[in-house]
Amino acid sequence: MISAEMLCPPPEVAPARPSRLDPYLSEVLARIRAADATNIGYQRATDIDYTPLTPFFGHMLNNPGDPRVDPLYPLHTMDVERRVLAWFARLFRAERGWSGYLATGSTEGTLHSLRLARAKLIDPIVYYSSAAHYSVPKAARVLGLPAIAVGAEPHGEMDYADLQAKAARNRSRAAVVVATIGTTMTEAIDCVPAIRASLDAAGVARTWIHADAALGGAPAALTGRHDFDLHPGGSDSIVVSGHKWWGTPIPCAVTLAAHRPLADSRLVAYIGNADTTIAGSRAGLAAVLLWHALTEHPLAGQRLRVQKARATAGYARRRLAAKGWACWRNPDAVTVMLRPLPDAVAKQWPLPTEADWSHLICMPGVTTAHIDRLVANLEGAIR
Ligand SMILES: Cc1ncc(COP(=O)(O)O)c(C=O)c1O
Repeated sequence: MISAEMLCPPPEVAPARPSRLDPYLSEVLARIRAADATNIGYQRATDIDYTPLTPFFGHMLNNPGDPRVDPLYPLHTMDVERRVLAWFARLFRAERGWSGYLATGSTEGTLHSLRLARAKLIDPIVYYSSAAHYSVPKAARVLGLPAIAVGAEPHGEMDYADLQAKAARNRSRAAVVVATIGTTMTEAIDCVPAIRASLDAAGVARTWIHADAALGGAPAALTGRHDFDLHPGGSDSIVVSGHKWWGTPIPCAVTLAAHRPLADSRLVAYIGNADTTIAGSRAGLAAVLLWHALTEHPLAGQRLRVQKARATAGYARRRLAAKGWACWRNPDAVTVMLRPLPDAVAKQWPLPTEADWSHLICMPGVTTAHIDRLVANLEGAIR
């Protein structure tokens, strides 16, 4: 039936008013700016200027489904996404046949990787260290996979003897082991060759190693550590967050596997490709932001960012130690472990704390001036 509404012309669209920030959002922005000035506790770089990309905000950029095929939706950045993926595949020495996509974060990337592992191995057990990120047991739960926690050394690295003992008890079952490349609290790096050796010694024949390299993968690979990457003998899959090492203003991650995507991914007529991803609709903006971050600096500049961040972490450890404040740092880490700050100082410099240790993280953008201010505040509080 035809309604009156259908016969009437659509109402005139009111002319767009210049947009202003809602007063409440202005308050939120002020709070965020203030917090940003002293955020040295959480992993996000601040040295890359993303404001040249604001024209992209005027468009709803969506990259649905498999990034290997352009979708029907025309406002996509799949071409940019493919460049980003190829950059990381080269960094992580993937051979022909690799697959991947830009996910919402490493949490999704790990879920996707464990899903690939489950499809290949059928009924595996997931092993992860007690220092692994909480997203790892969550992914196992979501996928209905049994998961076993393995011990960690005091500095945060996996206890390989414990892995071997636990895997040996289940030697007839396939094993998916999640190696953390930069643990959340101490930035310890699990050793993939040691994990492989433990599984061999335990008599486990069918394996998949997933590298959760959310923070530490890029700086490690950029400065020549490759034992966890996608080269044969390394990991089967890897995930790296974009909003951490590159500080993209929206969370995102690169998830890559040394293997082809799931064979059961069928063509979806509506989007014009197969949905090999967990998320489906994905932020086209993420690809643009990451490509901007990767091309802002040539490779030598990318390495310099790593060296500067590590040097700042070394400076922070020395300054705190000189004040008699207990602290330590894993080799090459940008993370410095320290005893919790007095309350008055912690209000200004909020740092995460676990088992009586806090950490600060000298991400690119954190300078010696930040450390000097923190140490001056600390000195004032303990004098
Ligand atoms: C080791 C590790 N894995 C995974 C994550 C989760 O990453 P995302 O925020 O990209 O989901 C984090 C975040 O802190 C992490 O440190």
